[in-house]
Amino acid sequence: MLPEPPMPHRKAGLRALKALIKHGYILAAFQALHEEMGDVFRLPLPGFNPVVLVGPEAAHYVLITARGDLRWRPEGDPVTKLLRRGVLVEDGERHDALRRIMNPALHRRRLPSYVAAMWRYTDQVSATWNPSGPVDMLAEMRRIALLILMGTLFKVDFAPDMDRLWPAILRILNYISPSLWLVWQDMPRPGYRGAQRQIDDYLYRVIRARRAAIGETDDLLGLLVTAPGMSDDLIRDQLLTMLIAGHDTSTALLAWSLYLLGSHPEIMARAQAEVDSVLGEDVPDFTHLERLVYLERVIKETLRLYPPIHIGNRMAAVDLEFQSYRIPAGTRVVYSIYLTHRHPHHWPDPERFDPDRFTPEQNRVRKPYIYLPFGGGPRNCIGAAFAEVEAKVILARILQTFALRLVHTGVRPHMGATLEPRPGVIMLAQRRRKADSSLVEA
Ligand code: HEM
Repeated sequence: MLPEPPMPHRKAGLRALKALIKHGYILAAFQALHEEMGDVFRLPLPGFNPVVLVGPEAAHYVLITARGDLRWRPEGDPVTKLLRRGVLVEDGERHDALRRIMNPALHRRRLPSYVAAMWRYTDQVSATWNPSGPVDMLAEMRRIALLILMGTLFKVDFAPDMDRLWPAILRILNYISPSLWLVWQDMPRPGYRGAQRQIDDYLYRVIRARRAAIGETDDLLGLLVTAPGMSDDLIRDQLLTMLIAGHDTSTALLAWSLYLLGSHPEIMARAQAEVDSVLGEDVPDFTHLERLVYLERVIKETLRLYPPIHIGNRMAAVDLEFQSYRIPAGTRVVYSIYLTHRHPHHWPDPERFDPDRFTPEQNRVRKPYIYLPFGGGPRNCIGAAFAEVEAKVILARILQTFALRLVHTGVRPHMGATLEPRPGVIMLAQRRRKADSSLVEA
């Protein structure tokens, strides 16, 4: 019989521990384990014990070859308790039916209609930034991402409820973040129920209001309330899924982008010069976006170094075989996007921030499944195109309007619900005179 994937040996364990102490974050330890153990190994976490798969062959295996034998729904995990029947945690026909209903709202052809809301909400939030004091871009990007998600996909203005619901949103994100629950399923989670109730009250209110006055039907909420057989509970599950999957990821991407730009002033200057030459005094519109080629490379390279979703989590439904290893039914299988994106066999000088890895020539010759910030296969990210446009519009608008300087550099990747820059991205944001004139209402 084939052997099961190996547990880290003593030397690997020691290297992982040293890396953790030196760098102060868990992913550094995972990286050391990968270097010692190769692309298939097991994590010695009692009760969880996942097989970790790294690299393009592993990603292809999980996302394509074995996808029918890998369950997505992590039964009993906080994410399933929270999202209940949300598309992210459903399998099979139930999943496909939900995805079919929601796809049109996130289709490429819908994106141009969202651009104006994207820069307007950016302006609305950035208008509150202290001109002479520090601004935490992690929190500010969350505000922008929340307003955009609710404003475009649910057609509701979230501004009046933002401050009230802010602590509840952070609490439910914390609830689904990896922590002690991985090994202690029933650990007490104080404060979580109240937070969930608050968010649920809000979402059910949004659903009832739309049912009472259907109005537009081609936004995501409109598609859900007009689809046959959708109860309020099932719609709530999709709205909460989109709210979490759709804003926390963009928050992380935007905050990391600003952090990396702030810590590489020459790259910031090049991106800002491009924005100035493409936009001038104009507000961003869809036709500008394809000309922001360098900004696009910055976003892609940020997603390589700090993929907001850094692992995909599955459960083997049957006994599996991968690269001469046996993975027994019931095993957790995670494919690591983070480690694949830093794989030394596939990325020269992988730790370096270099947007020019993503020139058209390099993109053409890149092997498939080496770069997968949005996953892959039939269950890739439903919001990928939306997120790419959103990131470009927000960053272009901020670079057009502000001169930014990073004031705190001790930032680490934190494994929350997404991979976040902690403790935050603290910047000075000084309004640029040139862009001031374009801040009139369009
Ligand atoms: C930078 C932004 C984003 C990143 C990096 C990202 C990343 C990902 C990844 C890697 C997956 C697949 C996970 C896996 O294989 O286990 C995924 C799935 C998903 N994403 Fe995103 N995402 C982003 C933005 C969004 C947005 C804006 C939305 C919604 C508006 C969204 C909604 C979803 C949903 C619903 C799924 C599950 C799809 C399915 O199972 O069919 N994401 N995302």
